[in-house]
Amino acid sequence: IDHVFLMKRDPIIAIDGPAGSGKSTVTKLIAKKLNFIFLDTGAMYRALSWYLLKEKINYENHEELNSFLSDISITFQSFTGSNQNVIINDHNVTEKIRTQKISSIVSSIASIREIREFLVKEQRKIGEAGGIVAEGRDIGSKVFPNAELKIFLTATIDERAKRRKNELEAMGQGTIDFKKLKKNIEQRDFDDYNRKISPLVKAEDAIEIISDGYQINEVVEKILEIYYETIPKELQL
Ligand code: DC
Repeated sequence: IDHVFLMKRDPIIAIDGPAGSGKSTVTKLIAKKLNFIFLDTGAMYRALSWYLLKEKINYENHEELNSFLSDISITFQSFTGSNQNVIINDHNVTEKIRTQKISSIVSSIASIREIREFLVKEQRKIGEAGGIVAEGRDIGSKVFPNAELKIFLTATIDERAKRRKNELEAMGQGTIDFKKLKKNIEQRDFDDYNRKISPLVKAEDAIEIISDGYQINEVVEKILEIYYETIPKELQL
């Protein structure tokens, strides 16, 4: 069988895993290396959470929520390269969505069916043509089940909390309380793994990578190695 005639789009790479596993950094670097679109789906859930709060929407009310969603547009500026802005209805929320306040409410908002359906549809539109590496919780299991390469990236909770602390402090958010942060991540893990719709799950055909003790670059190299082994040469971009 000649893959070239069967493939209607460019390859898709799905990277899923819990908070702080290094997904974002790894995904960005892979996108840059392959010149793929980089899609941070968590940023979409965060942007919606920010806007729901700002507009004081009662999201438990289905009618109110649906009417709100029908007017939402989420876009990313500069898809490739490592920096991108997240825009929701003309509001640049790139930094506003990284606060602990948003982190603590986003899981519960991400468990609402209408919200997931809306965002999954948007994500599929962005990835329609392929040539994309997307990161999240349900990319391999739900958003792009036909992705050519699925990675489940994880790390122990201590390792992840340590990384998040460094990240947030580097962003200028002051000294972060490690215990509180770890608890926050544990809670988010629990919510993400246990929600009814599209829980965080390792897709059956995903390759699991535990990143404890590895440098980001080593993880990126490993994934690229698997990519080059998996994707037929003529389809590699
Ligand atoms: O990756 P992150 O920390 O920015 O994600 C924020 C939240 O969004 C996370 O708690 C779970 C949710 N999320 C999700 O439910 N599905 C995705 N595909 C991406 C994120």
